[in-house]
Amino acid sequence: MSRLLRVKISALGTYVPPRLLTNEDLEKLVETSHEWIIERTGIRQRHIAEKGMASSDLAVEAAKNALAERGITPSDIDVIIVATVTPDMFFPSTACLVQHKLGAKNVWGFDLSAACSAFVYAVQSGAQFIATGAHQKVLVIGADVMSSIIDYTDRSTCVIFGDGAGAVVLERAEEDSVGIIDFLHEVDGSGACSLYMPGGGSLHPSTHETLDKKMHYVHQDGQAVFKFAVRKQAEICERLLRRNGLRGSDIAVFIPHQANKRIITATADRLGLRPESVIINIDRYGNTTAATIPLAMDTARREGKLKKGDLVMLASVGAGFTTGATLLRWAY
Ligand code: UT7
Repeated sequence: MSRLLRVKISALGTYVPPRLLTNEDLEKLVETSHEWIIERTGIRQRHIAEKGMASSDLAVEAAKNALAERGITPSDIDVIIVATVTPDMFFPSTACLVQHKLGAKNVWGFDLSAACSAFVYAVQSGAQFIATGAHQKVLVIGADVMSSIIDYTDRSTCVIFGDGAGAVVLERAEEDSVGIIDFLHEVDGSGACSLYMPGGGSLHPSTHETLDKKMHYVHQDGQAVFKFAVRKQAEICERLLRRNGLRGSDIAVFIPHQANKRIITATADRLGLRPESVIINIDRYGNTTAATIPLAMDTARREGKLKKGDLVMLASVGAGFTTGATLLRWAY
């Protein structure tokens, strides 16, 4: 087999809908309090899409920002991968809708379903097309309108999630000193019923009964997910670091999935990360599922923390269970 090419992230763009849902707003909807939410999750507010605004709309805005940053047009893209649990429809894929809205002429693409780990899985999947030389430019987008599948009478889920999108362009890295170094992914389907949307699929097609039973909303055993995430996120990162001869203190920027501030700090403590390396923006966005990691990349950049050559680790745990970690050196 010929040598695989090195792959880098060459541009980043994000988008969140303007409307805010604050903890104080939620106090009016369910029996909760700002104090409980901030203490148990770290969240202050989330962005919520207006009615009629779908994941493809958020995805397109994020994609346009990424393409503008790179100075390329939609026609320069070869593949679009959309990571999402809230596709506009079951089919066609959101990637097709994004292709059409962007006017990307020379492209193929698909959706990738891995819940909160979908962005890191999509980056790694897209990277294979560049590494083999099959394609030059891959657009990877994480986009979710979580508010479309949340029950705003269920206080155990409605305080957590928000809407948003983030996109990156993947390309060949000409220099060996930047780009993706390694990754480690795992799925464990024994956790399927700890976090899921039971209705609407082939198992429980939508009926009046599934609607009455609220099966078209997110159902979560919060404590089971919390315990798994705290253990597994640190474990997978430790294994990835070890096999690359690295320690937590070597990481310049740690960009974890933003599910709960307590999960992030527990992971950071166990890995021995330097506090200033850990990116947290859950206070502003909540858990936007596939969009948390690109949104946190953007936060790191705005805080002046992402510089060329920096050693970056991405990490996620989500429904499935899905787990993922990626090591890379920031390229620009
Ligand atoms: O992206 C991956 C997906 N999800 C996750 O990673 C979520 C992981 N889990 C979590 O983040 C946390 O488990 C939650 C934030 C969901 C819940 O926090 P917790 O500290 O695990 O709370 P709990 O479920 O153990 O509930 C403690 C108490 C309960 O009351 P009682 O039984 O002690 O009287 C709940 O009914 O807090 C109550 N509670 C609330 N109270 C006020 C649950 N939700 C709320 C709420 N406001 N929103």
